[in-house]
Amino acid sequence: MSLPQAGKNFYIHTFGCQMNESDSSRMAELLATDGWTGIDDPEDADLILLNTCAIREKAESKVLSALGRYRLVRNRRGTRLGVTGCVAQQEKEKLLERVPYLDFVLGPDQIAQLPAAVSSAAAGERLARTGWMDSEEYVFPRADPEAARGQVSAFVTVMKGCDNVCSFCVVPHTRGREVSRAYADVVQEVASLVAVGVREVTLIGQNVNSYAGGCTFAELIRRVAAVPDLVRIRFTTSHPQDLSPELMEAFRDVPQLMPHFHLPVQSGSNPVLKRMRRNYTWEEYVQKLERTRELCPEIAMTSDIIVAFPGETDEDFERTMTLIERVRYDNLYSFIYSPRPHTSAIRHEQDWGVVPHDIAVARLERLQKRQRELSLEKHQSLVGRELELLVEGPSRTDATRRMGRTVWNQVVNFAGKAPAGALARVRIEGATVVALSGTEVSFVPPKVPVERPAPRLNVLPTVVASDACGG
Ligand code: 5AD
Ligand code: SF4
Repeated sequence: MSLPQAGKNFYIHTFGCQMNESDSSRMAELLATDGWTGIDDPEDADLILLNTCAIREKAESKVLSALGRYRLVRNRRGTRLGVTGCVAQQEKEKLLERVPYLDFVLGPDQIAQLPAAVSSAAAGERLARTGWMDSEEYVFPRADPEAARGQVSAFVTVMKGCDNVCSFCVVPHTRGREVSRAYADVVQEVASLVAVGVREVTLIGQNVNSYAGGCTFAELIRRVAAVPDLVRIRFTTSHPQDLSPELMEAFRDVPQLMPHFHLPVQSGSNPVLKRMRRNYTWEEYVQKLERTRELCPEIAMTSDIIVAFPGETDEDFERTMTLIERVRYDNLYSFIYSPRPHTSAIRHEQDWGVVPHDIAVARLERLQKRQRELSLEKHQSLVGRELELLVEGPSRTDATRRMGRTVWNQVVNFAGKAPAGALARVRIEGATVVALSGTEVSFVPPKVPVERPAPRLNVLPTVVASDACGG
């Protein structure tokens, strides 16, 4: 089929975790340097990228149905279509065979090849690049600080890949081995983001606490905290086995490190944890968590849980329910086990016993219902308190109100005037499961105003990121 002459508008549809969100930003910046403009409506795009997630089957099927929709845009205006991220890495060139209207496939280590892939597509060639780069040759794509102008908060990649072997997880296959970024490079990127008005950074990686870029992860946090005018640091995601006393102490000692710890437990049953190859018992996990709470008493704790892992009995599941009662998490991300290609669990499913789907759904619903009650109780306990918020801008639900986040990362919609980037004191007056509401008492504006980005810099259009990944 001959396609009409294409212009230079692009649209990126991002699925999955913060790592993908960050990779999408880097790809958008690369395209912008090549004269492309990011737009919000895929219907007007000349290039559509699907930056994909393979963590569960549902995530993968969403990608295939989105591709089907974008095919119509391609038929109408000759739009080129590329798949990047974890599904690209998992399927490699097979994806070009399965999807005949797809122009290119690029794995997560091949972001720098994007301009070449786009030129090949324009010349009518179909290309798949999914090779790995090992630690010596891998260069972390650097953020363009100008593209972050207007953002209060930004992600900074500190490592990639995962050397663990959790039996359910496809990430080691799609993201490869761990490679850490040199600490000086991380600190420099953080400083350049702060210079354009960013006030909070989230250090990201599939397994951040096994960071090894010339210092420990706790040391990296201290170095980042030394960047003047940076007010908040967060990180995600961590594995309980690599949680060092030094990192727990950082929550007590580094004022910029926010008291929120996402520490995926996956299950509260030791036989299940063993089959998951998590390398800890629930008792060891709880001990580390309680030690962290001793050091930082009000710390918010969140976690990931998989229900209906092969062989999970009613008794195993009850142990998970007991664990959540004991820990009283602020929030949980919970999922039904999804068999993934290339994982060891898929080979043992029949030996261990597959949990029927209706039982899996009932377990998930029970867990989520109880967690909603616990999350609401936590939120309600904050009513009447005056909290410090980092203000992000207008509220998404009511543009006459403002929105900011507590140190524990909860969203607060409030009546007030604090500009984006300000630290505001807000009295909390109401609570739901998902957010808090209140009234501003006072605020301190940011030194560097958080300016709206110039139109050229609208390089990161609609990002649909829903699932956390890693840990
Ligand atoms: N099935 C269900 N959930 C999974 N996760 C990872 N792999 C799977 C899978 N095969 C969950 C884990 C992880 C989170 C990002 O996704 O809970 O921590
Ligand atoms: Fe690595 Fe996390 Fe996947 Fe385990 S669950 S293999 S730690 S990314």
